Amino acid sequence: MPIDRCVCRQIPFEELRDIAADESLGFEALLDTTGCGSSCGLCVPYIQAMLATGRTTFPVMSPRELERMCKGAHTPEPKPDPASSSVPRSAPSSTSKQS
Ligand code: FES
Repeated sequence: MPIDRCVCRQIPFEELRDIAADESLGFEALLDTTGCGSSCGLCVPYIQAMLATGRTTFPVMSPRELERMCKGAHTPEPKPDPASSSVPRSAPSSTSKQS
């Protein structure tokens, strides 16, 4: 059974996403405004994941999996490591040997 709403408040994540976007609400403000998360709290990590990813339907996931999903959503592109950049070095100058 997919997770797609705060069951206690009967508010679908899709509606929560729209409320957050329309009212420019962050996580805490969204919970305060809607009352989601104030009963059993099971929806809280899913709402965080929804805000991080834009997804509104989730399989049942462990808190660790949800945390990983949130971190993945915000992980910036890795920057190239200057130490490992392969700047071509100039080849040693070859001196022409005369025979
Ligand atoms: S499912 Fe949202 S508070 Fe219970």
